[in-house]
Amino acid sequence: MTSHTDSRTHSPSTFAFTVHPRARLGEDLARVWAPLGRVPDPVYDAALRRLPLRPVTMAGVHIGGQRVGHVVLVPYGARHLLTSPGEGRARVHRAVDKARALGCDVVGLGALTATVTAGGVSLRSRTDIGVTNGNAFTAAIVDDQARRLLRDAVDHASDPHVAVVGATGSVGAAVTRLLARDRAAARLTLVARSAGRLDALAAEVGRRVPTSTATSMEAVADADLVILLTASADALLGPEHLGLGAVVLDATQPRNTSPTLVAERPDVLVVDGGVVDIPSLRLVGGNIGLPDGRAYACFAETALLALSGHRGHFSIGVPTLELVDRTRELATGLSHLGFRAAEPTSFGRPVAVGRASMGMAS
Ligand SMILES: NC(=O)c1ccc[n+]([C@@H]2O[C@H](COP(=O)([O-])OP(=O)(O)OC[C@H]3O[C@@H](n4cnc5c(N)ncnc54)[C@H](OP(=O)(O)O)[C@@H]3O)[C@@H](O)[C@H]2O)c1
Repeated sequence: MTSHTDSRTHSPSTFAFTVHPRARLGEDLARVWAPLGRVPDPVYDAALRRLPLRPVTMAGVHIGGQRVGHVVLVPYGARHLLTSPGEGRARVHRAVDKARALGCDVVGLGALTATVTAGGVSLRSRTDIGVTNGNAFTAAIVDDQARRLLRDAVDHASDPHVAVVGATGSVGAAVTRLLARDRAAARLTLVARSAGRLDALAAEVGRRVPTSTATSMEAVADADLVILLTASADALLGPEHLGLGAVVLDATQPRNTSPTLVAERPDVLVVDGGVVDIPSLRLVGGNIGLPDGRAYACFAETALLALSGHRGHFSIGVPTLELVDRTRELATGLSHLGFRAAEPTSFGRPVAVGRASMGMAS
C-alpha cells in the first residue's frame, strides 16, 4: 500500500523525522539534555503517560554542510506507544503538526511512530505535508546487508535457510518479497503472531521459494540467517532460539535482541540492521543513538526524498518493490553523499563478517 502524489522534480525541501524514547526512557531523554538522564525511569513512565506533553524539536539535521531538517521527539515511550496506541497515534499526529509548523515538506516516521500509525495510514489524508514510513529504503538496505551476510558469513551459503521474524510487517513483508523475487534464500521461514497474514504472504512468496510459517520463535532454530523485524519493547529473540553458528541481522528499534546474547552465544553473530552511511551527516543539539555520519535507513529515506525534491506521500503501509527500487535509484543519484549500507557493526561496535574471521574487529 503506497501512494505517489507527485513525481515531478522540485527543488530540495526540508524534512522532519519523528522519534520517541525507546525502552530505557532516561537514557534516551539524556540525548535531549544530559541532566534528564538522572531521573529514574518510573518517574518518566508516569509523567509521559499522564501529562499532555507537546512534541519537542530535539536536533537540527545537517548534510553536506547545509541544514536540511529536524528531529522531532514524540514524548511517549516504546511501551506507551505499544500499550496505548490511540494516545500514541494522537501524539504522533501532533508531531506531524509540529513538522509542518517548522516549514517541513516531508516527514518520516521513525521506529514505533510508524507502527502506531499503521505505517502512516492514519496520516494518509493529510495534504499539507508528505508522509513516509521510511520502510522502502529500510527494506533495500536490510536486503543489501542480508545478501552480504549470505555471501560472506553464513554456513550453507549455496542453499541458505533464512528466517524473517516480523515477516508480515511493513519492512518485513517488503524484505520477504525481495528475498523471494531474487531467490536469495533456498528456503524461507516466516514468523509473526498473526497466522492469517503469515499464510497469505507465504502463499504469495511460496511460488518462488519453499516457504513455511510459524507463530513461535522456536521455528528459527535451524535457520542460517535470522532477520529480525519485529515491533516490540522486549528482547524477543534469545540464545535459546538460535542454532549453532547462526547469523542474526537485527534491524529493530528498540532492539528486540539483548547485548548479552553475544556473550551467552559466542558462536552466534549479531549484526545491526538498517544502518546507512551519510559521512557528512551531523545532528546539532541531540543525537538518536548513532555516531555522526550514520543514520537509520528510515531517516535516510526521508532525507533522500527531501534532497531529491519529492513532494507528497511516499511509503505508506507496506512499500511495494517498485518503491524499494525507486529509493535505490534516489540513493544512486545522491551517492556523492553516501546513502549506502554502513560497514557491519554489532551493538554499535565494528565486527568482521567473513566465515573465517567472525568476531569483533579490533
Ligand atoms: N533500522 C531502521 O532504519 C529501521 C527502519 C524502519 C523500521 N525499523 C524497525 O523495524 C521494526 C519493524 O518495523 P515495521 O514498521 O515494519 O513494524 P510493523 O509494520 O509494526 O511490523 C511488525 C512485525 O512484527 C510482528 N510482531 C510484532 N510483535 C511480535 C512478537 N512479539 N512476536 C513475533 N512477531 C511480532 C508483527 O506481526 P504480528 O502483529 O502478527 O505479530 C509484524 O509482522 C521495528 O522495530 C522498527 O522500529 C528500523
